[in-house]
Amino acid sequence: MKKLIVANWKMNPFSATEALALAGKITKAAASKKSLDVVIAPPAVFLSLLSQKKVKRLAAQDCAAERMGAYTGSISAAQLKSLKVNFVIIGHSERRAAGDGDDIVHKKLQMALISKLRPIICVGEDERNREDALPKMVRHQMHSALFGIKKSLVKNIIIAYEPVWAISGHGGLPDDPKHVFEVSLLIRRELYRLLGKRTASRIPILYGGSVHDKNVGMFARESRVDGFLVGGASLKSDVFARLLTAVDQSSS
Ligand code: PGA
Repeated sequence: MKKLIVANWKMNPFSATEALALAGKITKAAASKKSLDVVIAPPAVFLSLLSQKKVKRLAAQDCAAERMGAYTGSISAAQLKSLKVNFVIIGHSERRAAGDGDDIVHKKLQMALISKLRPIICVGEDERNREDALPKMVRHQMHSALFGIKKSLVKNIIIAYEPVWAISGHGGLPDDPKHVFEVSLLIRRELYRLLGKRTASRIPILYGGSVHDKNVGMFARESRVDGFLVGGASLKSDVFARLLTAVDQSSS
């Protein structure tokens, strides 16, 4: 399986010109990395532009929980698909903090799958060193998101383990790679239970939280995850290019 690297730009950069320039540099850096699939998740306002400029793998950072209609400010999964967007991040902690509860995450997941987008479902605990609470919380987030989803659709999901305390934009520090490895096993076991071994073993598990060019090699080797969800470090093209090289080298 190729490693999946998702550049989550969040609410950056400021203008379409900057978005275009950054996407160009990332695309160039990604072109020679045969062991990687690199996805750009820009703010929704830039998706159309980047799609027209033939950025191959695009993710939205969110989608609506409804199919269509009177939902001012929302963007549906089907509309994203019509722009040739292929992925959508769902249940990111910053969306959960803005009000997305488990039921909304579940509905968004359904909309994404029906519209043939690959959802990247974020799960993770709020506080560090809560080993007692962590398994329960991650399991709960996975169950509530996946419960009742058709087996034929569910094979397209991606899980991102993102401990909220590790996200750089909130002053977080990276998790320990061994800990990420343990949590990824827990997630894989839960996927086995929910979906059966055959489907579960093909679902990529990513890590996100203060991943940058200096620590990504260590995460790739010791955590053995299938890729990374990268926020802050994806906004600097030189840092992100080095990050891609490090993951590519650790895969060969
Ligand atoms: P970070 O963000 O890499 O800046 O920690 C990751 C994320 O929130 O997706």
